[in-house]
Amino acid sequence: MSVHPGKGVVATSLVQTYATGRKLWGRAEGFRAVNGVSLTIAEGETLGIVGESGSGKSTLGRMIAGIEAPTGGSVTFWGEHYARVGTPQWRSQRRQVQVVFQNPAAVVDPRWTIHAQVREALTTHERLASSEADDRAQAMLVMVGLGTMGRRLPHQLSGGQLQRAVIARALVLHPRLVVCDEAVSALDVSVQAQIINLLLELRERLNLSLMFISHDLSVVRHISHRVGVMHNGELLEIGDSAALFDNPRHAYTRRLLSAIPADTPRKRKQRDAAAVRFVTTPPKTPIQP
Ligand SMILES: Nc1ncnc2c1ncn2[C@@H]1O[C@H](COP(=O)(O)OP(=O)(O)O)[C@@H](O)[C@H]1O
Ligand SMILES: [Mg+2]
Repeated sequence: MSVHPGKGVVATSLVQTYATGRKLWGRAEGFRAVNGVSLTIAEGETLGIVGESGSGKSTLGRMIAGIEAPTGGSVTFWGEHYARVGTPQWRSQRRQVQVVFQNPAAVVDPRWTIHAQVREALTTHERLASSEADDRAQAMLVMVGLGTMGRRLPHQLSGGQLQRAVIARALVLHPRLVVCDEAVSALDVSVQAQIINLLLELRERLNLSLMFISHDLSVVRHISHRVGVMHNGELLEIGDSAALFDNPRHAYTRRLLSAIPADTPRKRKQRDAAAVRFVTTPPKTPIQP
């Protein structure tokens, strides 16, 4: 299993061990939050990651994004290993991978306008004339549907609008990879659909690779080309989205599917009412089997 050499992400045998504090025979006992996970994400591909709370999804996402170094195994990002913190190569890698979390209010500065925050992300990485920075920040806000809201402060936006602002701030740098960790989980179903449609649209326009982590399978299903199932730190199975959902190989995946939380009739109706147009077009670079 491989992606085009030098393009996309290749993770090999990733392990993350956290100290538990307890000692066994004088040696600190470690807890393996992620235990030997290998996967690839091609350029332009969306890989969904599902699994119950505590299965290691976020830990895996942090290692893939290079925020946290693995205890074992390796990640290559467009052919390079993640560089040591603080080096010039690290700085350049930092703009190429962005992470969007569940709670947008926690990651914005409450005193700054939305426009200022998007602009600041840009000027941190690029030396730009003031007017150009303004224009590019504004263009990005237009792209996420907040063209008229740049002057607002975070508390003047709804949860969905604030998540759009966070997405604008992440994407203004034109990253290669965006890791979305429960990025829509806190939003109403109709707003979830809007944000997912936005991500699908931006994925096409910017040729993004996405790692889309969620405990909500019904969300992951529609946005992902392939889906991986995490359980107790391990990747139980990974495969083409439709095939995995229609014909799960693992008993655990079948159990997970039969318990899809957001697919109650009421939620399905809400989703339809929101006129969701989920599209999963193939990524531009072919995915290897
Ligand atoms: N920084 C950390 N220190 C210690 N334990 C952690 C840390 N991060 C996660 N864990 C533990 O690792 C396991 C997996 O967590 P996580 O990756 O957050 O799972 P998920 O995102 O699937 O809910 C959990 O048991 C969690 O308590
Ligand atoms: Mg998590």
